[in-house]
Amino acid sequence: MHDFRYLGKRLFCEGVGVETLAKRFGTPLYVYSQRTLTRHFQELDRAMSPVEHLICFAVKSNSNQSMLRTLANLGSGFDIVSGGELARVISAGGDPRQCVFAGVGKTEVEIEFALRRGVYSFNAESEAELHRINRVAARLNKVAPVAVRVNPDVAAQTHTKITTGTYENKFGIAFEQVDAVYARARRLKNLRWRGVQMHIGSQITAVRPFAQAVRKVLPLVRRLKERHELEFFSIGGGLGIIYQPALASGMAQWWNSAAAKNILTPETYAARLVPLLKPLGLKILLEPGRFISGNAGILVTRVEYVKRTGRKNFVIVDAAMNDLIRPAFYEAYHEIVPLTRQGGALIKSDVVGPICESGDFFCKDRPLPKVGEGDFLALLSAGAYGFVMASNYNTRSLAAEVLVNGKLAAVVRERQSVKEIWAGEKVAPWLK
Ligand code: LLP
Repeated sequence: MHDFRYLGKRLFCEGVGVETLAKRFGTPLYVYSQRTLTRHFQELDRAMSPVEHLICFAVKSNSNQSMLRTLANLGSGFDIVSGGELARVISAGGDPRQCVFAGVGKTEVEIEFALRRGVYSFNAESEAELHRINRVAARLNKVAPVAVRVNPDVAAQTHTKITTGTYENKFGIAFEQVDAVYARARRLKNLRWRGVQMHIGSQITAVRPFAQAVRKVLPLVRRLKERHELEFFSIGGGLGIIYQPALASGMAQWWNSAAAKNILTPETYAARLVPLLKPLGLKILLEPGRFISGNAGILVTRVEYVKRTGRKNFVIVDAAMNDLIRPAFYEAYHEIVPLTRQGGALIKSDVVGPICESGDFFCKDRPLPKVGEGDFLALLSAGAYGFVMASNYNTRSLAAEVLVNGKLAAVVRERQSVKEIWAGEKVAPWLK
């Protein structure tokens, strides 16, 4: 559930008309709802309350500092994957001691930075990485808290580009090798085992793959806990959200549909997993990104042209794949709605951006209301893996971001100026 809804004909984010924001701040524009972000964090936190736990928000899904600050104020920890993300979290007021550092390619510089800042755990993805962390820790005269990311080799039933927990993927250490890795690493004097981690993939909309993976690794976790005095077990992130039409079809209608009965809620997730996890007696870490930030954001865009050509009705908008790459990259579905609702017949349309690539589309042959130049559209569920994956392709500026809280709205990232795009570039001296 989110806080983008029509009041009369106009789309609102909480208490603010979205079109007012589009006119005031320009488009393409990301608009975030603080209330939605907060609610999703709290729902999951509440559902998991029967076990000692810490939610470590996956910063990669949305790293705007206002979003991070909101979550830090709610007591969230953070799942980070680079030195840059750690610096961001610190700058936003997050606590490094509540950060877990994941990723297959941590550099020495990143490891040193994270060690100095005192992250809660390095989630190591290879034995070579454990050796590197040990070396850096020895040099700094520190003991590094570590966990291994276990690759449980289970199918996550999601898009191949976001499946991470099978032996086809580069992530983690194979399930069968983990016992030996923990035993061997005891010789590394500047490491201390703190936990064990896994993550099977993203946008998983059924509880079964999570339960399967947890069941599979539980005996291993129990063994490791006994042998190495672990403190936590991280079950990763990956909880999926609703991308399918929920708003355009009328919320109530959708929520009564068969599809709604099968969605993954914090309650169904916790009901299946808590009974498995509680007897372990470990602190449970969760690393959700999309579940918390996904439905908390939309991307607002203006219609530049409508062009009928061949068999198609193309709606050409001012946002593009550089602003939101998910449809181009994962064939992802984002619901598209007008900021001002009108009646009338729906027309099969391709909503496309101005970038010179056929892949630059947001939808194909989708029945949409008739729109014309100057109308605004919103791409929903764009709060996760939206702005963070934006680029300057075609020398297009990064969009602005706005945060709404009730009737308040603030720009939380200025639109990038064109000059900023090439600010770091130089003409080679021999060309001058
Ligand atoms: N923990 C680890 C170790 C991860 O690799 C990820 C995501 C997460 C947590 C958070 O997953 P979430 O709860 O957000 O599903 N760009 C893709 C998603 C890539 C996810 C990568 N890892 C997309 O737009 O669908």
